[in-house]
Order: sequence, then structure tokens, then C-alpha cells
Amino acid sequence: MSLEYVHGYSERESERLYDQAGALVELLHNDTRYPSGSKVLEAGCGVGAQTSILTRNSPNAKITSIDISPESISKAKALVEGEGRRNVVFQVADIFHLPFEDASFDHIFVCFVLEHLKDPEGALNSLRRVLRKDGTITVIEGDHGSAYFHPDSEDAHQAIGCLVKLQAEAGGDSKIGRRLYPLLVGAGYQDVQVAPRVVYVDSSRPHLVEEFTKNTFTAMVEEVGEQVLSQGMMDEKAWKKGIADLYRTAELDGTFSYTFFKGIGKN
Ligand SMILES: C[S@@+](CC[C@H](N)C(=O)[O-])C[C@H]1O[C@@H](n2cnc3c(N)ncnc32)[C@H](O)[C@@H]1O
Repeated sequence: MSLEYVHGYSERESERLYDQAGALVELLHNDTRYPSGSKVLEAGCGVGAQTSILTRNSPNAKITSIDISPESISKAKALVEGEGRRNVVFQVADIFHLPFEDASFDHIFVCFVLEHLKDPEGALNSLRRVLRKDGTITVIEGDHGSAYFHPDSEDAHQAIGCLVKLQAEAGGDSKIGRRLYPLLVGAGYQDVQVAPRVVYVDSSRPHLVEEFTKNTFTAMVEEVGEQVLSQGMMDEKAWKKGIADLYRTAELDGTFSYTFFKGIGKN
């Protein structure tokens, strides 16, 4: 899995995941609070960007955060323990081979993971096994087909299209947000509700200009530049213009919009 993961595990990608989580904390976490004593599984915690928020917002829940990458688990542990949080344990584990008994958890939280998996419904099914009856799963995913911006740019859309294609070639689906409802229902969850969470950025929201438009979204597209150029997916001039045009939307008269999807289902 780690070799195919389109964003990789570099320092820059870790920073991007922290910026992404920081920028979106209110939008994505405002209605996620777990009760005192409840057992929560965070699946695919990466470098702990969401774990830090979960432990802060639900300080008395007992959180178990897993990831398939030992390096990411080490980083997540260092971050969250450095923040003085004591209500989380970390474990290297594969979502498809969970080392937990049936019905071990009251709640499950999954963020920006399904988009990278060849079998997202299978992952949701595997997670349902370890969720108790009436327990909830919360899933958050993006959808790269939802990015629109001013000034508009064909080269920028083409650059985003290259990332979509590379992620698809690695077995993922960067437009998975729009599929959350059928995926959750298909995996057997009940009372499924999915809602779009729109990020809209203009220069009156300077922290979002920096943390979302530049450091989350454009940085993510920029990261695949080497692959795009080495595979001849775009010529260098058009690629550079596409990236520059994305940064251009972060200027004073620019705007940028993107839609995340947050789904909740019950076992
Ligand atoms: C984009 S990162 C998201 C990390 C974190 N949830 C966040 O929002 O910052 C996706 C993570 O899923 C992990 N992952 C991918 N396949 C997995 C699997 N089968 N089991 C557990 N973790 C997996 C990757 O190692 C990576 O850390």
C-alpha cells in the first residue's frame, strides 16, 4: 500500500496534512464529539493530524488510532504525546485485517483514507465488524471534481486532472466524496446521512488562503509534478502555468471553492 499511496510519506506531505487538518478543524469537526468513556477507533490516522483534534475535542473518550505505516504511527505518537494527550493508544494495523474482536468499538472515525483504497466498500465492511450494534461510523472524504476557482484556468484544471488520473492508476478515487452514501449503504450501515461541507476561500479569510488554497490543495497537486512530467501527462510549460494559476487564485482578487463530504452511519 505505502508504495502506491499517491501522496507518499515525505516531510512536506506530513506538513500538508497538518495544514489541511488545521484549516478545516471547524468545518469538519464541529459536530464530532465522543462521550466520556466511549471507545473510538480512528482508522488510517496517518501522522496524527486528525487524532490531535479528536483527542482535544473528546478528551474523555478512549481513542485507538491505527495506520498501516509504522513511520506515520511514530510521527502521530510523537505529536499527540507532545501535546500532553493521554486518551489515545496508537497501533500499526491494516484496516482489512483488524486485530480487534467483533464489536470492540462504540464509534469509528475515518478521514481521507477511503479515497486511496482499491476496495473502499470492503474497508467499510471490515470496520463494521469491529463496531458494536448501534455504534456509529463517521467518514470524511474530499472530491477533486468539486474544485472551482477564479480566475478560471484550463491549465489548472488539467493539472488537477493529472492528480485524479494518477490516484486512479494507484487504485484510488479522488472523487470519492460523491460516492460516500452508496458506499456506506452498500457496506451495510443503517440511517446513513451524508452532507457536503464546502470550503470557500477569498482574501477576507487569509488563514484559509494560506492553509487551504496554497498549503493544502495546491501543494497536493504540485506534489505529483515529477510523475506528471516524467510520464508526459502534460508538457512542462502547461504544468507550470497550471500550478501558477492555482497559486494565482490565492491573490487578493482570487477565490477558491472545494467540497468535502461527511457521512455518518449506524451499525
Ligand atoms: C491521506 S492520509 C490521511 C491521514 C489522516 N486521516 C489525516 O486526515 O490526516 C491516508 C492514510 O491512510 C493510511 N492507510 C492506507 N491504507 C491503509 C490500510 N489498509 N490500513 C490502515 N491505514 C491505511 C495511509 O498509510 C495514510 O497514512
